[in-house]
Amino acid sequence: MMNDKKILFSGMQATGSLTLGNYLGALKNWLNLCDDYECFYSVVDLHSITVRQDPAELRKKARNLLMLYIAAGLDPEKNCIYYQSHVSGHAELAWILNCFTYMGELNRMTQFKDKSAKHADNINAGLFTYPVLMASDILLYQTDVVPVGKDQLQHLELTRDIAIRFNSIYGDVFTVPEPYLGKAGAKIMSLQDPTKKMSKSDENPNASIYLTDDRDTVIRKFKRAVTDSEARIHYCEEQPGVSNLIEIYGAVTGKTFEEVEKEFEGKGYGDFKLAVGEAVADLLTPLQTRFNELSQDKAYIDKIIKENGEKADYYATKTLRKVQKKVGFPERIR
Ligand code: TYM
Repeated sequence: MMNDKKILFSGMQATGSLTLGNYLGALKNWLNLCDDYECFYSVVDLHSITVRQDPAELRKKARNLLMLYIAAGLDPEKNCIYYQSHVSGHAELAWILNCFTYMGELNRMTQFKDKSAKHADNINAGLFTYPVLMASDILLYQTDVVPVGKDQLQHLELTRDIAIRFNSIYGDVFTVPEPYLGKAGAKIMSLQDPTKKMSKSDENPNASIYLTDDRDTVIRKFKRAVTDSEARIHYCEEQPGVSNLIEIYGAVTGKTFEEVEKEFEGKGYGDFKLAVGEAVADLLTPLQTRFNELSQDKAYIDKIIKENGEKADYYATKTLRKVQKKVGFPERIR
């Protein structure tokens, strides 16, 4: 496509505040990839409206998310950071791919089941076909690799099935993408219920670390994290709370589980929780400083939004035209 580099695509929803789970499971793994891949990172605002949103809030959250990508360390000159809603190809391809996706496949999606249970008063068709829009995001850029957390693997598997199905009818139209999971942190759990994933939409603010939490809040939340009465810092199924903290500490410091266990051998949960809290706060402080700086620079952010939106649109349109031709839509007269 653009040059010899492989293509990488990922995105996040602009709903709620980003959590440490989003950071460790996805954003952290996005950094430093632009030398090896042509990278597209979208703020997926079309996905956000599958749940009712306040318009002004959504706009603000989307912009904050875009700035957070940059604050976390993605250079917007080297990574295409853009709003999904600025590239109409996403929705256009989604319509076409809806016609190549089965109801049965969508019925099996666990995220749909979870979300429809949570929003029983608004089980709209968009919530149901959400994974098809996600497939369109990915396939529109002829993506090779998609770095995500574990909870998105089922959607990625569906994306691959749709691409293979389409290609088997029309020839090699889409690249079939591969998922990419980080070594640690692919599934960060709630601090209050370690059997549930840490989620932006959790009602209990103590369950999640938000990337915008200040140092004291981060440390306080870790101090309150649910553990057990084993009094042993060991990574195992029987100790989900402690294991989650080991996972977080390992993902933040780059240490293996064994190294973490060794470091805290004989120490109490109090010391361990404090160390995890401090490590996470140290990680977040520079990100927050950078975010605040970026918030002051409206012109710079606007320029990024415009230029990257145009770049994404260019590549998206290329794939879209090819697909439209393959399915039999008439060519445009110039
Ligand atoms: P979203 O916005 O829910 O989450 C963004 C990314 O964060 C990861 N993640 C986690 N990783 C580890 N532990 C957790 N507790 C945790 N919670 C979330 C997610 O796996 C994801 O990588 N449908 C997607 C957004 C999307 C997308 C795409 C992603 C739309 N189109 C195309 C990749 C490619 C979503 O809702 O992610």
